[in-house]
Amino acid sequence: MFMASRIQTRAFSASARTLSKVAVLGAAGGIGQPLSLLLKLNPRVTELALYDIRGAPGVAADVSHVNTKSTVKGYEPTPSGLANALKGAEVVLIPAGVPRKPGMTRDDLFNTNASIVRDLAKACAESCPDANILVISNPVNSTVPICAEVFKARGVYNPRRLFGVTTLDVVRASRFVSEIKGTDPADENITVVGGHSGVTIVPLFSQSKHPELSSNAELIHRVQFGGDEVVKAKDGAGSATLSMAMAGARMAESLLRASQGEKGVIEPTFVDSPLYKDQGIDFFSSKVELGPNGVEKVLPVGKVDAVEEKLLEACFTDLKKNIQKGKEFVAKNP
Ligand code: NAD
Ligand code: LMR
Repeated sequence: MFMASRIQTRAFSASARTLSKVAVLGAAGGIGQPLSLLLKLNPRVTELALYDIRGAPGVAADVSHVNTKSTVKGYEPTPSGLANALKGAEVVLIPAGVPRKPGMTRDDLFNTNASIVRDLAKACAESCPDANILVISNPVNSTVPICAEVFKARGVYNPRRLFGVTTLDVVRASRFVSEIKGTDPADENITVVGGHSGVTIVPLFSQSKHPELSSNAELIHRVQFGGDEVVKAKDGAGSATLSMAMAGARMAESLLRASQGEKGVIEPTFVDSPLYKDQGIDFFSSKVELGPNGVEKVLPVGKVDAVEEKLLEACFTDLKKNIQKGKEFVAKNP
C-alpha cells in the first residue's frame, strides 16, 4: 500500500498539498496506538498530532523514533493541548471512547461515547472547521449525526467533510469471501452499504463476482456481526483494534490520495447522503468518490436482489432510530 503511495505522491506532485497534518484523538487506546504507527509509516503524512486524555505523549515519543520523515507530537489533555493538536489538521481520526464487552451492542456504548464525541467535535469545529473528520467511535450510526449537529450549531457544517469509518465492514467481507472461495482477498471487492452495527450492515454479494453468495445466510450474518466474534474472543478486553487500525489508516490514506489530486478514489463510508433522504434517512454508508473537497460524489447503491431488498428494509428501520438518537442527544445536551 505504502510503496504505491510513494509513486502516486510523485505522479501527482503538481497539484499535491505538500503538508498534511493528521490528528488522532484517542491515540493511546487499542485502536489509537497501531493507527498512529500506520500513519507514521505513511509518507503522505507530514505531521502527526496525537491526543488522548491519558498517555498521548508517551505514544508519541515511541512512534517518533520510527525512521520516517514525519514529525510526531503528543499533546496534554488540556483544552489548549487539544486545540493545538487540531490546529492546521487536514484529517482528524476519532477513535476516542469505550469499546464493547461481551453481551453489549454498539448502542449500549451511546451513554458514554456520545458526550465524548460531542466534546471532541466541538473542539474540531473550533480549531479545524475545514478538516476531514473521520469518526471511528461507536455507535457510528449515532456519533456521526452528533458531529453534524455540533458543527451545524456553530455554523461550520460541511457535509462533504464528515465521515463515519465503515471500512472495516468491507475489509471483513472481502476476507470472509476469500476464505470461502479460496481466492486472494485483494480480488474480492464486496460492496457493503447501510450503517455500522448488526442488521444495518448490508453486504451486496449479488454485485460481486459470486452473486450466489447473496443467499448464504451464514456469510451475511458473519459480515453483519463480525465485530461480535472479536469482542467474544477478547473476552472483556475490548473489541477489534488491529484490523480497525488498518481500516482507519486505509481510509485516511484514501482521503490524502484524493486531496493530493488522485482521481477516482472510492471508499465506502457513512456520510450525509442523498440516497434515502426521502425516507427520512440522512446518513448512509455507500461507495463514495473522494476528492480535494472531501466527498466528491455519493455513488448509487445499484441493483440489489430480493434477499438484499429485505436486508435493506431491516437496515432502514434501525438506522433511522440510531440517527435520530444522535440528533436528539445534541438537541437536549448541546
Ligand atoms: P480503548 O478503550 O482501547 O481506547 C480508547 C481511547 O480513547 C483511550 O485511550 C481513552 O483514554 C481515550 N479517550 C476516552 N475519552 C477521551 C476523550 N474525551 N478525548 C480523547 N481521548 C479519549 O478503545 P478502542 O478499542 O480503541 O475503541 C475505541 C472506539 O472505537 C470504541 O468506541 C469502539 O467501539 C470503536 N470501534 C469502532 C470501529 C469501527 O469500525 N468504526 C471498530 C472498532 C472499534
Ligand atoms: C467492529 O465492527 O469491530 C467495531 O464496531 C467494534 C465492535 O464493537 O464490534
